[in-house]
Amino acid sequence: MHTLSSLALASVFLVQVLAASVHPRGLAPPGWESFICLIDCRTTFGLPLLTGPVFADTTGMTIEKCAAFCDSQAVPYRFMGITDGSVCSCDNYFESIFESVSDSSCNTPCPGNPLEVGGCGGKELNNPVASTYRKINATIPALVPSVGLWNGLGCYNDSVSARALQERVEAGNTTVESCVAACQAQGFTLAGLEFGRECWCGPELQHGSRNSGNDNGLDGSNSNHRIDPNALNCDMGCQGAPTESCGGPDRLSLDSPSMRALERRVDAGNVTVESCVSACQSQSFTIAGLEYAQECWCGNEIMPPRGPTSQRACSQACVGDNTEVCGGPDALQVYF
Ligand SMILES: *[C@@H]1O[C@H](CO)[C@@H](O)[C@H](O)[C@H]1NC(C)=O
Ligand SMILES: *[C@@H]1O[C@H](CO)[C@@H](O)[C@H](O)[C@H]1NC(C)=O
Ligand SMILES: *[C@@H]1O[C@H](CO)[C@@H](O)[C@H](O)[C@H]1NC(C)=O
Ligand SMILES: *[C@@H]1O[C@H](CO)[C@@H](O)[C@H](O)[C@H]1NC(C)=O
Repeated sequence: MHTLSSLALASVFLVQVLAASVHPRGLAPPGWESFICLIDCRTTFGLPLLTGPVFADTTGMTIEKCAAFCDSQAVPYRFMGITDGSVCSCDNYFESIFESVSDSSCNTPCPGNPLEVGGCGGKELNNPVASTYRKINATIPALVPSVGLWNGLGCYNDSVSARALQERVEAGNTTVESCVAACQAQGFTLAGLEFGRECWCGPELQHGSRNSGNDNGLDGSNSNHRIDPNALNCDMGCQGAPTESCGGPDRLSLDSPSMRALERRVDAGNVTVESCVSACQSQSFTIAGLEYAQECWCGNEIMPPRGPTSQRACSQACVGDNTEVCGGPDALQVYF
């Protein structure tokens, strides 16, 4: 009994000493903020926490050197990590295999500046641990609103064991545009980008995939995937266009063709029924449609699944003549 409580006391004391010796969260190079302490399986399982550019310096590493290295890359990086006192790496996301550990596991003084205690990672048992940092005010890749006639639908969940979209296709140096084009060429009506470079197509979503909004994976169900509390789900830039969102781990940036009843939107000036009809006629279309007060659409057939709707849906005045009706939101006033 006596021995046990001494041991307990001793370990409490040890933890306190360790905690006191670790630099508090907040130690960060200019332009960066300290993030969390994470296991890095780079040497143990060959699975790096961050897979971007990397450099090692066993004698002179500091947090400033690592920041300068990541900041000097052609592509902007949102995260950097220093592992086990010597390995600096950059990336825009964390790989899916990692584990967060307590701050006290980041306990290695940086070899190039011993005052930077806890800034350069450490070891937890035998596992290398990384001190990670997040770029302040970094631009998060944006969902592309539309590509041609395809519209961005948002961020949807996926999983390796039950794919939301069945067909993986080749999309070159992946961008939203290249993936949409690849899916369209194969006759699919959904295109999804994942993990920055994967292009998936399908006729419909499967396995309960749904818009995952802005949940950040901290609810526990997929906490091993997303740890950036401020990030959107689909926050990985595309391999071929880093400012475009190309999903994330287990996250698809999803696109589908808009369901347009008429195929072509044309410029009809200050839109009236007359200006739209004549714009469509001059391009040899047989049908003109007015929508949303100011949009003029032309075609030679009305594409399914469209049919007449109530006239009340077409209630917006034309921008060019407010005595005329120019359709409504998602409702076309059609002229043959
Ligand atoms: C980040 O953005 C805020 C608000 O625009 C600004 O006040 C702050 O100086 C910026 N910080 C850095 C490091 O760029
Ligand atoms: C998407 O998330 C929902 C709700 O968490 C889940 O039921 C579904 O299985 C997930 N689907 C895929 C494809 O991951
Ligand atoms: C892919 O696109 C990126 C961004 O435009 C570019 O930096 C890179 O060199 C391209 N890679 C290949 C293999 O073409
Ligand atoms: C469009 O037409 C309306 C109604 O005739 C007129 O008030 C408006 O100034 C016109 N706008 C332009 C840009 O010509």
